[in-house]
Amino acid sequence: MARPDVTIRRATIDDAAGINAVYNPYILETAATFETTPIDEASRRRWIETRLANPRHPVFVADGREGIAGFANAAPFDERQAYETSVKVSVFLAPDAKGKGVGAGLYEALFGALNRVDVHRAYALIVAPNPASVALHERFGFRQVSTLDEVGRKFGRYYSVMWFEKRFEA
Ligand SMILES: CC(C)(COP(=O)(O)OP(=O)(O)OC[C@H]1O[C@@H](n2cnc3c(N)ncnc32)[C@H](O)[C@@H]1OP(=O)(O)O)[C@@H](O)C(=O)NCCC(=O)NCCS
Repeated sequence: MARPDVTIRRATIDDAAGINAVYNPYILETAATFETTPIDEASRRRWIETRLANPRHPVFVADGREGIAGFANAAPFDERQAYETSVKVSVFLAPDAKGKGVGAGLYEALFGALNRVDVHRAYALIVAPNPASVALHERFGFRQVSTLDEVGRKFGRYYSVMWFEKRFEA
């Protein structure tokens, strides 16, 4: 399907509110993320600032006519130093932007950037079931390496998490 009218670009501090507008409903209404408390704007600004300081952790947004339609980012896999060449990635779209290639556009930009830095492995933690996310990650070279059975509980029920891994040439 043709990608809607969005520009994929690097996030700036001023995208904090737009990113929250996409992400916070997933926190409040779904198990797609295991966060449970909405993120306030000051925290999101600090989050972007931290990401901007490390080239291994890019953040891209899909900027549309009605504001931010989605974002993708790479985050530290773990704060301990020896993990620094591994990242966790995720992508979230506003409901209207789903199913139109916006997720792929964000991931093209994200992995284009990650291919140019010293990153060896990327991991995606996908709460099951999520066929669209699985298909998107497989399209970008991820393969499933494990499932953690009922590792999280949200809204009073347990959810399993599928771990997907992508290997870089470097
Ligand atoms: C997951 C998400 C980022 C995918 O982005 P998207 O732009 O909507 O992706 P698309 O709809 O173009 O679909 C990607 C692939 O999934 C497939 N797909 C979409 N919905 C599907 C469904 N319900 N069942 C099976 N496959 C599905 C598409 O056919 C496509 O396959 P292809 O790559 O082989 O062509 C987006 O749907 C989203 O934001 N979902 C909610 C948040 C979320 O779950 N984020 C991921 C957290 S790990």
